[in-house]
Amino acid sequence: MTSRLDEVAARVRACTRCELHRMRTQAVPGHGNPNAEIMFIGEGPGWHEDRQGLPFVGAAGQFLNEMLSNIGLSRDDVFITNVVKCRPPGNRDPLPDEIAACAAYLDEQIAAIQPKVIVTLGRFSMARWFPNERISRIHGQPRRFGDVVVVPMYHPAAALHQASLRATVEADMAKLPQILAEARREAAAAEEKPQVEQMRLF
Ligand code: URA
Ligand code: SF4
Repeated sequence: MTSRLDEVAARVRACTRCELHRMRTQAVPGHGNPNAEIMFIGEGPGWHEDRQGLPFVGAAGQFLNEMLSNIGLSRDDVFITNVVKCRPPGNRDPLPDEIAACAAYLDEQIAAIQPKVIVTLGRFSMARWFPNERISRIHGQPRRFGDVVVVPMYHPAAALHQASLRATVEADMAKLPQILAEARREAAAAEEKPQVEQMRLF
């Protein structure tokens, strides 16, 4: 049976909605556990990702793997994707119309996975939930949006290029198990609430 995520991935691989499809070797829909409690959203595929069809497999990906392993997680426990699924040429920033064209795929992935926590890596995925915020001000601070808690973090590539950010990203990542535990508690409480209210009727 084809899962909803596989079905989205198939449409992403064939997508021609924005100009980025012309320059790609292949699209990079995303990878990981379809039942992940944590979802990571980066910016867009780089050179290695475009070649392999998988997200975060270059230097930034190695660093991300390391940080995941430090909190007892592997890539197969989480789901990893990007704001745009095709590589911007020369790794330039994705353009607003490209992000807008690709947003529906990300919406569908989030709806299919229903993660408890979303970690945004870098400012492009952060802007989806925090459009007017500065990452230097809000990194590492979880905020609830309906059923999901969103935690903005610096992009691992930025941390590789700027030594002072490395410790910051690592410290934010180290908070993730606690943030997830709290999100689980809140989800469980939200599920119990209607029952409690029903019982009061009797
Ligand atoms: N940087 C990103 O934002 N995404 C990737 O998949 C790889 C590097
Ligand atoms: Fe389609 Fe997104 Fe690739 Fe643009 S970046 S062609 S919208 S999959």
